[in-house]
Amino acid sequence: MAKLSVNVDHVATLRQARHTPFPDPVEAAWMAEEAGASGITVHLRMDRRHIQDADVERLRESVRGKLNLEMSISAEMLKAAVRLRPHQVTLVPERPEEVTTEGGLNLIFYGRRIAEVAEQLAAAGIAVSLFIDPDPRQLQALSSLPGGGARWIEGFEINTDAFTRATDPAQVKDELAKIQEVAGIGKDKGLKVYAGHGLRTSNVGPVAAIPNIEELNIGHAIVARSVMVGIEGAVKEMLAAMNGG
Ligand code: PXP
Repeated sequence: MAKLSVNVDHVATLRQARHTPFPDPVEAAWMAEEAGASGITVHLRMDRRHIQDADVERLRESVRGKLNLEMSISAEMLKAAVRLRPHQVTLVPERPEEVTTEGGLNLIFYGRRIAEVAEQLAAAGIAVSLFIDPDPRQLQALSSLPGGGARWIEGFEINTDAFTRATDPAQVKDELAKIQEVAGIGKDKGLKVYAGHGLRTSNVGPVAAIPNIEELNIGHAIVARSVMVGIEGAVKEMLAAMNGG
């Protein structure tokens, strides 16, 4: 079964809403791992609207599984990642006004910069993953990143957003097929395959059942549910839904 990396950004969103020291995303991360998460994901945004640099520093000390840091390809974030040294960085596109990540990276357009950033992260001993839409053209572009940049990339995360938004059964099937296809191509290329965005207990099953996907990154649905049942309960419910798939 796919592993679960819990994104605790929105625990920090609640904290930042009142500029209090609580709730603490590091404590939530500890509890999520206790409940069966394989690791923790956080997105250090340019505007620091939720996770702060100090959170990542503390998570680096306390996370027992894999700490995955999502970030943009900016020079500032590259510097922060090299200093903070998470186990993995997932490069994502970031637009200041967006509510959440809006789509995958365009490797065709930004390939040169992505290859440069990936090389420096890899040199710092950080595994590099790229967030991409389920489009075989992006995987083609990954393999032919400028300057042989593909050698710095350990894996990629498939954006499941379109699948989670689809309502018409034919469209759901179509979006799932795209994820399956790209997961298969990635595996054949020897890359690690992850997936996430918009997943919740009601839609996670078919994605968790795709054999080539090794880990799912899930945040908002788990943190939202944890308000009702606690973080351990919410993580366990998600793992059960993944298992059911
Ligand atoms: N993967 C990426 C690249 C993301 O940016 C996010 C949102 O921070 C997620 C996964 C998790 O999405 P959600 O919060 O909808 O589960």
